[in-house]
Amino acid sequence: MSEDLIYLDANATTPVDPEVLEAMLPFFQNDFANAASFSHAPGRKASDAVEQARENVAKLIGAEVKDIIFTSGATESINLALKGYAEFNFKGEETIVSSPLEHKAVIEAVEYLSEKYQVEYIKVNSSGEVDLNSLREILLKQKCLVSIQHANNEVGSVNNLREIGIMCRHYGSILHVDAAQTAGKVGIDVEKMCIDLLSLSAHKIYGPKGVGALYVRRRNPRIRLTKQMYGGKQEREYRPGTLNVPGIVGLGKAAELASKRMLADEEKINKLTEKFKQVLSTELPDVIFNGPAGKGLPGNLNFTVPGLDARELLCELPQLAMSTGSACTSELSEPSHVLRALGIVGDKALATLRVGINRFNTVEEIDRAVELLVNKVIDIRQKTARVEHLP
Ligand SMILES: Cc1ncc(COP(=O)(O)O)c(C=O)c1O
Repeated sequence: MSEDLIYLDANATTPVDPEVLEAMLPFFQNDFANAASFSHAPGRKASDAVEQARENVAKLIGAEVKDIIFTSGATESINLALKGYAEFNFKGEETIVSSPLEHKAVIEAVEYLSEKYQVEYIKVNSSGEVDLNSLREILLKQKCLVSIQHANNEVGSVNNLREIGIMCRHYGSILHVDAAQTAGKVGIDVEKMCIDLLSLSAHKIYGPKGVGALYVRRRNPRIRLTKQMYGGKQEREYRPGTLNVPGIVGLGKAAELASKRMLADEEKINKLTEKFKQVLSTELPDVIFNGPAGKGLPGNLNFTVPGLDARELLCELPQLAMSTGSACTSELSEPSHVLRALGIVGDKALATLRVGINRFNTVEEIDRAVELLVNKVIDIRQKTARVEHLP
């Protein structure tokens, strides 16, 4: 990435922390053995490193070590959790419950399951949080598998997992949480929050891409899944295949750093986010901030600049790496399903931008980014006004 580029797309992915990279490198080089090769010392060393990573990930979310299954990322974890749970446990009368603001990984998996099982969607409020009364109404009727995101990847709304978890447990339903945006950034305790299944990803917490984890509760209640792949006996047979040792070590290191730095990171990132927001709203008073008015996902800002074409703006600002919506849908020119569900449609949706601030961003970068953005908006607006006044 060029030095003068300002990276503000932390929801899509975060830069790899140098300490994470350093921890991974030996496992590409000298310590390259297969973690399943117990017959020799290098194999056992790789296996020990994987188990250390498992401990770090478990600690991050208050889980038991054996309950962590390594996967290729949150998408795979979500598929294993939802398809695996429904296929193993459902007898016909149960329902899958989700929200319209979920990531495509959940939406598509639920859509697939809807061919066989009943599906219901919880209402969300205008800030993007799930409506607990709507959830209660559904849970009262039948036992469910509930899949809820901890935080939304576009507007940064954060759901109250403790209340959701306690409610699901009370009504005998099972809770899967998509914590791709929060694990390592917002405190999670699977015991206190009564979470049964949880998906997370390394590349959102300064780890490498292509590795993640699924938490599968083994006690109170014991969760059992139908495996989605066939092969060896790795990862309690839920995830056969040779383990990605460098990636898992990277995830473990990222989790260890996150456990230590979460509060300091949050404080720094919140200050930078507040600065961005404050300057932007002073310089462009008509900007509308979407998502939660109060505490949301640290570092996330989603805003609409009335009258603007967000794509055009970003094309004219190659120094800024920002997003017009979720990275998974940003190649499409239609507004994302999240914005649509929140009633941000038409020109408003196309004038919407997302900023994601990470632990390595500096005050200087934020000052420069917001200055570039404001100047470009003013410039575009002046040009548009001149064209409109042509005879
Ligand atoms: C909320 C959420 N869930 C799931 C995913 C998918 O994660 P992964 O890229 O690890 O498959 C993402 C990634 O953007 C996300 O933001």
